[in-house]
Amino acid sequence: MQSLQDKDKRYIWHPYTSLLSPVVPIPVAKGEGVYLVDEAGNRYIDAVSSWWVTIHGHAHPYIARKLYEQAMQLEQVIFTQFTHRPAVELAERLISLLPAGFSKVFYSDNGSTAVEVGVKMALQYWWNKQPSPEQPPQRNKIIAFNKSYHGDTFGTMSLSDRSVFTLAFRDKLFEVIFIDVPDAENTQAVQQTMIDQSAQVAAFIYEPLLQGAGGMNVYQADLLDQLLVTCREHDIICIADEVMTGFGRTGSLFASEQVPTKPDIICLSKGLTGGTMALGVTACTEKITAAFQTTDRLKTFFHGHSFTANPLACAASLASLDLFTTEQTLEKVQRIANQHLSFAQKIKKHPAVKNIRTIGTILAFEYNSESNNYLNNIGQHITAFMLERNIYLRPLGNTVYIMPPYCITEEELERVYGAVEEYLEP
Ligand SMILES: Cc1ncc(COP(=O)(O)O)c(C=O)c1O
Repeated sequence: MQSLQDKDKRYIWHPYTSLLSPVVPIPVAKGEGVYLVDEAGNRYIDAVSSWWVTIHGHAHPYIARKLYEQAMQLEQVIFTQFTHRPAVELAERLISLLPAGFSKVFYSDNGSTAVEVGVKMALQYWWNKQPSPEQPPQRNKIIAFNKSYHGDTFGTMSLSDRSVFTLAFRDKLFEVIFIDVPDAENTQAVQQTMIDQSAQVAAFIYEPLLQGAGGMNVYQADLLDQLLVTCREHDIICIADEVMTGFGRTGSLFASEQVPTKPDIICLSKGLTGGTMALGVTACTEKITAAFQTTDRLKTFFHGHSFTANPLACAASLASLDLFTTEQTLEKVQRIANQHLSFAQKIKKHPAVKNIRTIGTILAFEYNSESNNYLNNIGQHITAFMLERNIYLRPLGNTVYIMPPYCITEEELERVYGAVEEYLEP
């Protein structure tokens, strides 16, 4: 009889994985809080929250119960002629929780689609404002950051740094104005680039405070704010991609809370459902919706997905938001943030540790090796070393990061730190 792994190898193409020498995947039988339990009963600490989505822990019984109850009522419905209670309640709750000024949410089904929707809204905002549909709008360019990552669809690849992820498609990606993330030296120059191009710019998209897949780069809220103020002054739509930073990751419920100037559009996914189901949300302000409130059918937002506002995903999201209150989730976030700070302090002088940084529940550093890029196989070596110690870490090249579910205990997090220290020892 073929093993599960043999059949997996025969039939399945895994993401970001070589077909010639694939990693042998571990068959997971169940999840339990911070642990993934394999079919042989081994328990691994999921120290990357299963691609940054699992926030309250795996198979949370409260979310599971709410999902079951919803599944017994309504599992899916076409979201044009119909609506349903979970979608309406979730929209109302998100709007009350998001930084002030958002008026509507648009549902989709993952992080990339949440961003696609945001960018399409911004581009069509300018198109709808044109006197004639025949003309291309004058403002049709997007500004994005170098080292950004916004997803794997063509639109979101275009908005992302030109890296190994997008190399094969480079000639098919639309043109974007890339700017550097602001720092103490370059902010004025970056602002000037934005101003110089502003007459053609529809929108600026950014991952607030933290660039995730681009290397866990943390940058300052006040410098980002200066760029957002420039956007305001030059009528550039601001799109915050909070697919990763949303729902507590950077210490506050949304990273945008830490930045005085708020976005016009915000994109959410990952932790939205507690990491249980796929769902995307793009929220926007009245400024955006006003451009679509017209009797001209051509100016409709022609976008939708089969699983738009899936009732199960909306129910899971409502349950996840309940847990933020009943389990004082943001206090757990704070505890992890403090623990990360102490650990960063402890290992920052280690010769193999470069540029250690923390923000909220994320700790990252560069492992000092000769080459610093995504294809550097030190990451795979670290993953294998950690798995032997029943911990799952998945560095980005030589960028090692810890991003646990918020239910991780102090002792469990110490175990992860201990394994990192062990790896650092010569
Ligand atoms: C900031 C950001 N935006 C968008 C995405 C894309 O989300 P998804 O993988 O759900 O398409 C990601 C995924 O890692 C992300 O980190």
